[in-house]
Amino acid sequence: MKISVIGCGYLGAVHAACMAELGHDVIGIDVDPGKVATLAAGSAPFFEPGLPELLASGRDSGRLRFSTDMAEAAGAEVHFVAVGTPQQAGSEAADLRFVDAAIDALLPHLGAGALVVGKSTVPVGTAARLAEKVAATGATLAWNPEFLREGFAVQDTLHPDRLVYGVADGDERAAAQLDAIYASALADETPRLVADFATAELVKVSANAFLATKISFINAMAEVAEATGADVTVLADAIGHDARIGRRFLNSGIGFGGGCLPKDIRAFMARAEELGVGHSVGFLKEVDAINLRRRDRVVELAVEALGGDAAGRRVAVLGLAFKPDSDDVRDSPALDVAARLRALGVEVRAFDPEAIETARRIHPELGYAASAEEALEGAEAVLVLTEWKAFRALDPETVGSAVAQRAVVDGRNCLDPAVWREAGWTYRAPGRP
Ligand code: UDX
Repeated sequence: MKISVIGCGYLGAVHAACMAELGHDVIGIDVDPGKVATLAAGSAPFFEPGLPELLASGRDSGRLRFSTDMAEAAGAEVHFVAVGTPQQAGSEAADLRFVDAAIDALLPHLGAGALVVGKSTVPVGTAARLAEKVAATGATLAWNPEFLREGFAVQDTLHPDRLVYGVADGDERAAAQLDAIYASALADETPRLVADFATAELVKVSANAFLATKISFINAMAEVAEATGADVTVLADAIGHDARIGRRFLNSGIGFGGGCLPKDIRAFMARAEELGVGHSVGFLKEVDAINLRRRDRVVELAVEALGGDAAGRRVAVLGLAFKPDSDDVRDSPALDVAARLRALGVEVRAFDPEAIETARRIHPELGYAASAEEALEGAEAVLVLTEWKAFRALDPETVGSAVAQRAVVDGRNCLDPAVWREAGWTYRAPGRP
């Protein structure tokens, strides 16, 4: 099918590349000429495993093109809208400016019978409002939320664990068009749910709210563990064996960040408040607060590791991305902790395998190292803040010979305390004795 993808960020670029991989003829549109030039050259403007290969093969096949000109979207049968919905400045609510701008710019290019498919995460009620505008052109709107995880975005798009279509009352044609696009996933028996707009919009935010709650639950248990001498990692393993609970998303540590979970739960609370059901999701305020307290705790542990006097001391920060296999530092707890330590006068030497450039744009005042070895040299404390595989595999003896003091703060509970202590390290981690 002929497809356009409006907005080529993390979501849109991956979606466009995957749609071309599935055999569709795709034009990706973005207002950022730099991003478009990079994508058109077959490279990824951000780190995402597997994406560069798909961009290159899409370019070579001629099925994947990129442009800044919305007029190029004309002629596509299906238009995906994948622009960002960040948190509004000075408010908890989502900023819909980019969604509205994308739809408004697209309207003059819509052919009769075209299908516009929203993928962006939006407050419930948005699709119904936009559907009217789209209908006025003779086209129709559907909402098809995306559940991709950064780091697994290609796999999640090509092999989703479910497909959710939000369509207007009885719009079987829209569902059939989406079925044609996702034919290969459907052939793999991917569950497919057709719902109304409001349900489809809520599926996305409630899924993220649930995941955030699960993480904050275990981080709340970490606080209790800290008051009692219990070990939250063993607790998570033990309760995770209960199939009703499950072990996934029970990793306690510095808390969640990224471009989705934090802003999605805040936007959900803001929207629920507008709808008069703020009390129903009031617990998310606590989820957010628990999450932010974990950053305070890791800063506290770092200061403790330095013997209580942090100013002027040298600290190696390993990890800046909000999670491994990503260069994304949006609302990254790791970067936040590094910046807070810097503000306390700590001489921060930070290293991340992929996220140094993105971090430097937000916090140019931090000290950045070209390698983990350089960050570790002469450090008086080592902080592991993103659980990259390379950091999990660090050898305490080798690291020990580079640092000035064998003190480690495992902000992600990703190291083996016994092994590090055995090598003479003082090991500290949130939620662990
Ligand atoms: C999330 C959702 O998982 C995805 O379905 C949705 O479409 C977009 O938002 P993503 O932001 O890529 O995806 O990251 P995710 O893997 O969910 O992790 C979010 C944050 O939670 C990261 O900072 C991660 O480190 C943290 N996390 C995750 C924990 O602290 N503990 C865990 O057990 C799991």
